[in-house]
Amino acid sequence: SMRFKKNIIDHERVASYAFAFDIDGVIVRGPDTIPEAKEALKMLNGQNKYNIKVPYIFVTNGGGRPEEARAKDLSQRLGIEVTPEQIIQGHTPMKDLIDVYKNVLVVGGVGDACRKVAIDYGFKNVYIPLDIMYWNPSVAPYHTLTEEEKKVVRKDVDFSKISIDAILVFADSRDWATDQQIILDLLLSKKGVMGTRSETFDEGPGLYFAHSDFVWATNYKLSRYGMGALQVSIAALYREHTGKELVVTRFGKPQRGTFKYANKVLSAWRKDVLEDHVEKLTPENEEEELEIDPKNRPVFGASDSESEDEDGDEALTVQKLSQLTLDLPPASTVYFVGDTPESDIRFANSHDESWHSILVKTGVYKDGAIPKYKPKHICENVLEAVKYAIEREH
Ligand code: G3P
Ligand code: MG
Repeated sequence: SMRFKKNIIDHERVASYAFAFDIDGVIVRGPDTIPEAKEALKMLNGQNKYNIKVPYIFVTNGGGRPEEARAKDLSQRLGIEVTPEQIIQGHTPMKDLIDVYKNVLVVGGVGDACRKVAIDYGFKNVYIPLDIMYWNPSVAPYHTLTEEEKKVVRKDVDFSKISIDAILVFADSRDWATDQQIILDLLLSKKGVMGTRSETFDEGPGLYFAHSDFVWATNYKLSRYGMGALQVSIAALYREHTGKELVVTRFGKPQRGTFKYANKVLSAWRKDVLEDHVEKLTPENEEEELEIDPKNRPVFGASDSESEDEDGDEALTVQKLSQLTLDLPPASTVYFVGDTPESDIRFANSHDESWHSILVKTGVYKDGAIPKYKPKHICENVLEAVKYAIEREH
């Protein structure tokens, strides 16, 4: 049967391996975009000497805005199209709690942005600390609500009459003092009712954190305290009050739940990329055969192709290829590029042998230090990481 090496095929083969990227300290630092990131992502989109397209997703502990907004921001910064389906933020897997809790207090982020995210996820009654401050300004003696803040608060809630079932810290607190005060008020309360105090301290709402990064990388030269540091602080206050240890449920990296979630998202995305690829291939002539890099064959599943040429290359029809995308095996290797050993490298090393951790020096980790969790590879930046992985594969 006929074989052809048209550029459309040679130009856009799909790899059996994949990438997952951390964002802060790898792709961006605050408002700055790490210069090498643009080229790194272009390479994965097919601009590499092997003309291979490599599927990738982002797994950040950050958050505070919808996945759509994050995708748009990355697209603009990198000059490529990133879709919301490629993004996991710290709070993304918290979606799983929508049927568990009716009244939730969502903490962190700018204004009521996190309330909107939570409602979007499907949470029913979503409150924020500003609502409580509006209900009773004496709760926070040193915070006077601004006009902007007054515009976003819920004015119809009596917090002495309702129970907060869970506290979900979605993003970095913009006001540690007030947020901690309110979180402690609720943890020490009777069933999450403001103004009450439990005698046993075991009837307050559950406390959930979108991640536990102690520090993170911004555009300042030294790392900044993150939500993990806030956790340490709240735990200290709680211990001082109750003599007990604070119980926290953690999401984000390096948690196993987030890892499982990431694998699901990655396999859906790989399927998408492959289906897209199949669609682009001569649909008007389904009988023609395609050449597939044997090294990348696992993407298309175990081969039962009927022809093999002298090079040992195997051929699959477009039809078969489409069929195989329905039953896609896991990525042969997932390269995870991160800057924080405690969350990223630990995340990539702990859950599955097929993940390959790469530590970069553009964020929290600094040259010369001994990383607490040992990566498979260390390099300067994300571009070097991508080059390293592609060379290792070909
Ligand atoms: O708050 C964000 C930060 O702690 C980590 O973000 O992208 O490095 O996981 P990232
Ligand atoms: Mg990072």
